[in-house]
This record gives sequence, structure tokens and C-alpha cells, in this order.
Amino acid sequence: MAHYLVTGGAGFIGSHLVEELVRRGERVRVVDSLVTGYRRNLAAVASRVEFIEGDLAQAAVAAAASAGVDYILHQAAIPSVPRSVTEPVFCHEANVNATLNLLVAARDAGVRRLVFAGSSSVYGNVAVLPTHEDVPLDPLTPYALQKLIGEQYLRLFTSLYGLETVTTRYFNVFGPRQDPSSAYSGVISLFIRSLLDGRTPTIFGDGEQTRDFTYVANVVDGVLKACHAPGVAGGVINVATGGRVSLNTLFGTLRSLTGADVVATYGPARRGDIRDSQANIGRARALLGYSPTVELPEGLARTLAWARQAGS
Ligand code: UD1
Repeated sequence: MAHYLVTGGAGFIGSHLVEELVRRGERVRVVDSLVTGYRRNLAAVASRVEFIEGDLAQAAVAAAASAGVDYILHQAAIPSVPRSVTEPVFCHEANVNATLNLLVAARDAGVRRLVFAGSSSVYGNVAVLPTHEDVPLDPLTPYALQKLIGEQYLRLFTSLYGLETVTTRYFNVFGPRQDPSSAYSGVISLFIRSLLDGRTPTIFGDGEQTRDFTYVANVVDGVLKACHAPGVAGGVINVATGGRVSLNTLFGTLRSLTGADVVATYGPARRGDIRDSQANIGRARALLGYSPTVELPEGLARTLAWARQAGS
């Protein structure tokens, strides 16, 4: 049994990682500030998990959380692109300063490997689709830049101090427990909530922007593989489905799945919004033996089933 720290473990993706680790019989500690996470996300496994409430932007919290662990899955973040545009300093604290504190703590604690939740937003409006990891990066928002700084710090800690690190670049992750309650929430959670409540959602821009929506179980699989694969330390790996769908198509699919008689309204495009996003997942396939197990239609059906139950 290995000892894992999941930062942001009370959040959406973090709580899915925690559940899988518990299922595998591993020892799990969570650190979470509960700024965007909820204790209820860990309800099913609470008795099996050590929970530290605290902010990793404080070095003492990072040190206490890292003490004695073998692996760190660093998921804690303020994960919203638009929030970073309106609150860049607040987001920098959570996305960059906390990550640096955690790396120092992980190095000092002799952690075996740290896996970081990176973001496809670092690619910006890239010319190459599907996008592989080595294209020139073009962060268009504070969030994208903060995630890029994070992954460059990881790389540096590997080369400078020998701490094994891997960045998994996520592409629009969705699934059960993604919180639909804020304007900063992921679009699938917002669309589903609106449709189930009979409210009109807003599509920002013309709706022809595309995303590689990735069901959360694929991410759990990719992250845990990245935590243990040999020969990947210091690297960056896309974890996604490898497809691409427009917001208009997504909304149409969700509308027919829910049967809701709701039409979307259109609003101005979001500042810093990227146009198209689609992963080349060749590196994850080759280095991790990863391949997506839950495709978009099945992921949407599962998420909808959860949302119906959670909202009732
Ligand atoms: C998302 C993630 C980010 C991650 C990135 C990876 C969230 C909240 N953000 O950013 O953490 O690093 O993918 O690529 O999960 N939209 C609407 N109407 C809405 C909300 C959004 O039309 O009510 C549009 C947006 O303008 C955008 C698309 O939907 O074009 C996706 O937006 P969003 O879910 O916020 O995700 P990203 O900004 O792509």
C-alpha cells in the first residue's frame, strides 16, 4: 500500500481520484482549502481518508500535507479561465504560489513523484489540430499562463533537484460532481443544470468553438498511469479523448438527451476564449498505455443521470 496526497481532493477531479485510490486499497490524504471543493464530495469515502483543511499557499500547510507521502496528485487550483481574467492575483496565489510551495515541500519530504493537473489552455489558438505537446505555446489568459508556470516549475524541480514530476494536460474534463453553481463552472455542468431546470443557457460567441470534452474517468486513469509509468519524469502529457465537438452540437445533444424544450441564447464571446481545442493523445498512448475508455456520448449519459439524481 502506497501513501498518496491528493491536493484539491474535495474538488471535482480530485474526489474521483480519491475514490479510485481508496478502491485500490491505497492510503490517501487530502488537502483542500474548500474554496471551490466540498466535504460532501468525499462522503462515500470519508472514513477511509485523512483530511486536512488548509491553503497550500501557506508553506506550513504544504509541508504538513506532504510529510510521509510517496506520491502527490496536485489537483488543487482555481480552475476557471474567466475568473482568472477578473481576479488574476487571487488565481495566481492558488495556481502558482501554492504549486511552488508544494514542490518545495515534496522535494524536502522525499516524495517519489508529483503529478500536476496541467491545462490545454496553454496552447492558446494553436495552428495544429489535433495538438501534440511540443507545439509552441501561447497562453491567452492569466489562468493559462499560471498553468504554464506551474508545469515549468515542475520541469525545473526535476532537472534541478531530481524530484520526479509529470504534468498531465487536461482538456475540458466533465462528469459527476462538477459543480454547476457558479458562473465560472464548466460548460457541460451549466448546460445540464439549465436544461433540467427549464432555464435558458447562454452560449458565448457563435457556438462554433470546439472542445475535446473528456469524461472524468479517463482523466483518473491517465493521471494514475502518469504517476507510475517509467521514463516520463519531467515530462508533459495530454490526457483527453482526442475528439472535438462544437458548443452548438453539444447543446443540441444535451437537449435531446434531456428532452427539454429549451433554446439557448447567444451572448458576446468570452475574452481570452480559445477557438478550437483537440488533443493528440499519441504520447499518452505510447508512454502510458493510455486510451480513453469512456467516450463522449456515454460520459454525457452518465453525467446526466448523476445530475438528475443530485438535483432531485
Ligand atoms: C476548461 C476548464 C479549465 C481547463 C480547460 C482545459 C472549467 C470550468 N474550465 O476551460 O479548467 O484547464 O478547459 O482546456 O472546467 N461557455 C458557454 N456558456 C457558458 C459557459 C461556457 O458558451 O455558460 C463556453 C465558453 O465560452 C467556452 C466553452 O464553453 O468556449 C468552454 O468553457 P468552460 O467550460 O468555461 O471551459 P474552458 O474555458 O474551455
